[in-house]
Amino acid sequence: MLPPGADPLRVLHISDMHLTPGRHRLMAFVRSLAALGPDLVVNTGDSIASPDSIGPLLDCLGPLLDKPGAFVYGSNDLFSPKPKNPARYLWRTSAGEHEEYVPDLPWEKLGGELTAAGWLDLNNHRGRLTAGGLDIALAGVHDPHADRDRYDQVAGPADPAADLRLGVLHSPEPAVMDLFAADGYDLLLAGHTHGGQLRVPGYGALTTNCGIDRARVSGLSMHPEISPAGGHTAWLYVSAGLGTSPWAPVRFACRPEASLLTLVPRWA
Ligand SMILES: [Fe+2]
Repeated sequence: MLPPGADPLRVLHISDMHLTPGRHRLMAFVRSLAALGPDLVVNTGDSIASPDSIGPLLDCLGPLLDKPGAFVYGSNDLFSPKPKNPARYLWRTSAGEHEEYVPDLPWEKLGGELTAAGWLDLNNHRGRLTAGGLDIALAGVHDPHADRDRYDQVAGPADPAADLRLGVLHSPEPAVMDLFAADGYDLLLAGHTHGGQLRVPGYGALTTNCGIDRARVSGLSMHPEISPAGGHTAWLYVSAGLGTSPWAPVRFACRPEASLLTLVPRWA
């Protein structure tokens, strides 16, 4: 999806850490990711699960913060986790659960620290950066799952002069991704689904906890799946994420992941 002749671009996509200070193995794994040498780091949210998580998060991101980077929030960056049945998503989604709560996690401090480190805040913002020698136009929205997305604040054609147009959001809601695709974004990055979190071997995810279909609950696909007449179709990568809610610490047949995406030039 890069211009002909461009060098490959290595994008490290992390998501859904739900970090609490005691997750030492998770922090060690995240710390190890810098050795991959990415050109760009994108964090699609749900980074923290405790008021005390920001220091450990910054510590384990470590040298990744010295790379060009961008982030959006997930709903769980705003609200402390509550005790939940991890299987409740089988009969409903968690959309709307947060309407009764006032944010109680330090999401503004989280964003301030990541911004101070040099990463782009894409929560209902556009941005521009250079990574791997490429000029990248970005736009993102705050989490649609918490009804905080305001696409009108980033709407409009993505710059066709950029080498790459990147759209970022936490929950891969098709209606929002339709807008990114129609505006010409080449690649959309999202998280939120935890890959279904509870998967059945041979069948896959039982549910996605958002509007996307089960077949695209994680990994690479296209959006829209069928290109509209004269319209634009974007690549979509949904990360299965790195963690779980502290109150539903179960993943079954669904390994945690951080993803190193290598983007290459499109065929001339
Ligand atoms: Fe999450």
